[in-house]
Amino acid sequence: MCGIMGYVGFRDTTKVILEGLAKHEYRGYDSAGIAVIRDGRIEDLRTVGRVAQLAEKAERSGFRGDIGIGHTRWATHGGVTENNAHPHISSDGRVVLVHNGIIENARDIRAELEACGVKFHTETDTESAVQYLGHVYDGDPKEAIVKLTKRVRGAFALVIIFHDKPNEIWVARKGSPLVVGHAENEGFCASDPTALLEFTHDVWFMDDDEMALIKREGCEFFDFNGDRHEKPTMHLDWDAAMTNRGAYPHFMLKEIHEQPEVVAHTLLGRVAEGEVDLSRELGWTAEDAAKWKKIHFIACGTSHYATIVAQHIMETFGSFEIRTEVASEYRYRNIPAGEDTLAVFVSQSGETADTLHAARLAKSRGARCLVITNVRGSTIHREVGEALITPAGPEIGVAATKTFTAQITILTLLGMYLSKLRGELDAETEKRLVSAMMDIPGKLASILSQEKDIAATARNFADARGFFFIGRGLAYPPALEGALKLKEISYLHAEAYPAGEMKHGPIALLDKELPVVALVPKGELWEKTVSNIEESMARKSPIIAVATEGDEEIGHYTENIIFTPETETELFPFIAVVPLQLFAYYIARQRGCDIDMPRNLAKSVTVE
Ligand code: F6R
Repeated sequence: MCGIMGYVGFRDTTKVILEGLAKHEYRGYDSAGIAVIRDGRIEDLRTVGRVAQLAEKAERSGFRGDIGIGHTRWATHGGVTENNAHPHISSDGRVVLVHNGIIENARDIRAELEACGVKFHTETDTESAVQYLGHVYDGDPKEAIVKLTKRVRGAFALVIIFHDKPNEIWVARKGSPLVVGHAENEGFCASDPTALLEFTHDVWFMDDDEMALIKREGCEFFDFNGDRHEKPTMHLDWDAAMTNRGAYPHFMLKEIHEQPEVVAHTLLGRVAEGEVDLSRELGWTAEDAAKWKKIHFIACGTSHYATIVAQHIMETFGSFEIRTEVASEYRYRNIPAGEDTLAVFVSQSGETADTLHAARLAKSRGARCLVITNVRGSTIHREVGEALITPAGPEIGVAATKTFTAQITILTLLGMYLSKLRGELDAETEKRLVSAMMDIPGKLASILSQEKDIAATARNFADARGFFFIGRGLAYPPALEGALKLKEISYLHAEAYPAGEMKHGPIALLDKELPVVALVPKGELWEKTVSNIEESMARKSPIIAVATEGDEEIGHYTENIIFTPETETELFPFIAVVPLQLFAYYIARQRGCDIDMPRNLAKSVTVE
């Protein structure tokens, strides 16, 4: 949460920082600010609101400088005010910094400094860091930062400039993401590597307890004792064009439309001739797979729902004891894990603090750990090591869409591969599922071609009080994801239930203002779900059905039907989720919501 950017070089510093911040807005967007050094003085500009407002303010005032840092905020400590917006400057005007994370002992540091006569001006935890630096700085930035890192507790990515070092950006990291880049005669740092793609593809991902000096001439890396070390670069294989919206009005819509390609890309090199093969990425043996009795899937939000899809699919052909756990709970529960456990962490960003902490715990308990992430080189990737990367490309819309389909694709392959290693997946099932998965991109494209009809259906329900999403078996996990998408971007209350659970309580809420989205694919649970549709109709709830093409009977129950192509029962979540994403998108659009940056949300949640 919060996005930070720093630049030293020959370009227009303000422009580089503001454009970089705009790429970070998904991480926080309640206020923004920039600071530069001009004529040996630190100057800053801040505003409540979006980076675009900051850019207007900078344009009006002709804000310029030679070296700069910027920040887009997602408030944790201190309200959303211009005064609390970053960058923060020490009272003596010698140091300026931006911060992502939380300084847990900020109160103690503040009390200590106030006792020495230092004046504080904001309600933020960050100010304790900059005032501390101002207090101890005697011309040696490295020494001052080493002292700071020993004094503060908590999580931080800090980007710092000292008034008398106009060619130096200093950064330090513990627990919050930070990436450093260098090109000829210019240096950069950012929270998100996509902000650097325009300038360089070779970057250094900062590790915990590491600091760096960024200059036009190059970068140097140090530990928190100030000792220098060498650090290899990592090459980013993303393309800068992937971070543009193109002709789409929102990133979310663009990303929904990318899904056929993303699924095809995810399958590439992992399936061939009716077989799944992950051996190029996973050095697992049949003995490993036989040893693992338990699989713990650990993730948050949409990624957690992807693991529930995996659990349901794997249960149809394997004998693992599978748990799907929300990372923020997993870490505080005493769930036995050891050598008989494969712990699979799923995180689009690879930076989610809860998932990262859960991974450390599982590792310490002796579980074998694997991560599924969309960001090569992300913190969780580096810490866990063993990984399957989803090749979805950068996802900018705050609501996850294409990364969910990439995750369920790779999780399905993983489930099949593991069961195959254990001798539990028969060749016929493998062939049937692989062939059906190869057909998914075409089927998603056919759903996307119904966009206009789905949009029309969605618009009719934009004034509903809230929604229930119901499904049974493999129709339940996509119901969870459909409800989450709607909540996130339209601010309407939406809840998903296994359809049979409605009568145990939630049914009390049903009336004509609470529509029910029923996921009712053709198959053995069709009749049971239809009974639940009838129960809802008896309470006057309007019904929106997501049904299988050719299912004429469903027309007896509702005229609001989204037809989806037939697929194997196990793969229904792939087919169901795309119309639900479009449904949420068009409701949010009708309601005039800020779709790519929904209120209160940040894409990468790096605080607990
Ligand atoms: C929902 C959404 C969030 C994330 C969650 C985990 O649209 O994006 O629920 O899925 O914050 O994030 P990652 O996958 O980055 O760990």
